[in-house]
Amino acid sequence: MDYAMWEELRRIAATPPKITDLFEKDAGRAEGFSTRLGDMLFDYSKTQITDSTRDFLLSMAEAADVTGKRDAMFSGARINETEDRAVLHTLLRNLEGAPDGVDANEYAQVQRIRADMTGFVTAVRDGGFTGQGGAITDVINIGIGGSDLGPAMAVLALAPFHDGPRVHFVSNVDGADLADTLNGLNPETTLVIVASKTFTTIETMTNARSAFDWMKARVADPAAQFAAVSTAEDKTGAFGIAPERVFGFEDWVGGRYSMWGPIGLSLMIAIGPDEFTRFLDGGFAMDRHFQTAPLAQNMPVMLALVGIWHNQGCGHATRAVLPYDNRLSRLPAYLQQLEMESNGKSVAMDGSNLPVQSGPVVWGEPGTNGQHAFYQLIHQGTRTIPCEFMVAKAGHEPAFAHHHALLVANCLAQSEALMVGRSVDDARALMAAKGLEGAELERQARHRVFAGNRPSTTLVYPQLTPFVLGQIIALYEHRVFVEGVMLGINSFDQWGVELGKELANALTPILAGQENDESKDPSTRMLLAYLRG
Ligand code: F6P
Repeated sequence: MDYAMWEELRRIAATPPKITDLFEKDAGRAEGFSTRLGDMLFDYSKTQITDSTRDFLLSMAEAADVTGKRDAMFSGARINETEDRAVLHTLLRNLEGAPDGVDANEYAQVQRIRADMTGFVTAVRDGGFTGQGGAITDVINIGIGGSDLGPAMAVLALAPFHDGPRVHFVSNVDGADLADTLNGLNPETTLVIVASKTFTTIETMTNARSAFDWMKARVADPAAQFAAVSTAEDKTGAFGIAPERVFGFEDWVGGRYSMWGPIGLSLMIAIGPDEFTRFLDGGFAMDRHFQTAPLAQNMPVMLALVGIWHNQGCGHATRAVLPYDNRLSRLPAYLQQLEMESNGKSVAMDGSNLPVQSGPVVWGEPGTNGQHAFYQLIHQGTRTIPCEFMVAKAGHEPAFAHHHALLVANCLAQSEALMVGRSVDDARALMAAKGLEGAELERQARHRVFAGNRPSTTLVYPQLTPFVLGQIIALYEHRVFVEGVMLGINSFDQWGVELGKELANALTPILAGQENDESKDPSTRMLLAYLRG
């Protein structure tokens, strides 16, 4: 990417317009600065993006060859250059046939594994597969990162579609996670899924061994109640899990992009194979849109360009994801891995230092809860935090329909308040109406001023169904891809997580007193001394 374009973007952003002025000048702004896919609507009109800014952002996307790189990804090119791998998670949700460039055998293998998953899941759900004590009542997915966050987020999101055994997730190596989950479960009717792409991740393997021991105390053949999801079938065999309960996948599926395949086993158990297929269909519909819609109407592209504008142009270092959908409460955590593990890089694909900022800090909580926690800072803090709202037209609780109306009203009110703000004159009038005057009126009024002109986007969708969730997740995946291409980085490796893992491995024998701490810095030595007692 031409460095001059980033300079120009910052120059444009240096004199931001007032969003309310943009609406005054353009009666068609709401329609003109939003994009639709079927019933899904993405509104970015409450940002400072103008026609000419959008044109410039689109020219940046073209200069970065977003469409060429997109096509390369879908056709199986080895775009993950630092690991020399293809990036083909889109194949996992493609039920239509091998795309150009992808080996038909590879495609057939994906279908075979999904058929195996379906067979196993059906047996778990209808009692064809049992534990020592009878039908499976509880399933524990043991995994971390991409082997946990996706299915955990989706199982919660799709609670109204659950009709299988209860599904639990254990990820943290803190024994509290496993202990609290096992508490009250019957090992004789529990199935454990060990989900790990590599089958070496220390947290997952520690939890898996402890869960095995827990089961062994009551079950004669605990391995028979274990299944595995992994690319490392030699290691699953060594753990003792029979091959018919091992669901493999290829190294072209990155951990944080893996919930569409075998890593989604726990989700499939919760909602059943048919609804799982609808989830895949939603992702695939977004893929087709991403591949075919012109860039200016392309939802993932426009979501990415809004992100680039705020992060690189305006210099806003964070973005808040604010789903007004309680069942999406794990979505911010899921997106933290998806976005920050993908685009948290400071070296470009060619090894040179990135001349711009890496991807932003992503955080959030569902509304309306966040309103009573951190929105104060969003409205009146000194920094601007672009907000990404999302809300469904309909909830799943007809008995509480009035709750949904309140939820929607609050979501819309927040984006309006951020944009419109409250002037000091209006604040003075409010204080005068309360009977204040003079210096006290002025002082109190100033605390009630909202600067406004704070940007937000809103994604609205009909209802949180498996299909819609699939659309939302694929939307964010492609957004991350487009931002990564424009930054010129590799969004599909994660070398930044390795150093901490290596040092943790080195610290374990020191903590156990088997090695001395001489190689450690004084701070670490002091902490070790305290923790070892
Ligand atoms: O530590 C980061 C990471 O490698 C993620 O990328 C991955 O999703 C997670 O660990 C879990 O890895 P695995 O599935 O191999 O256990």
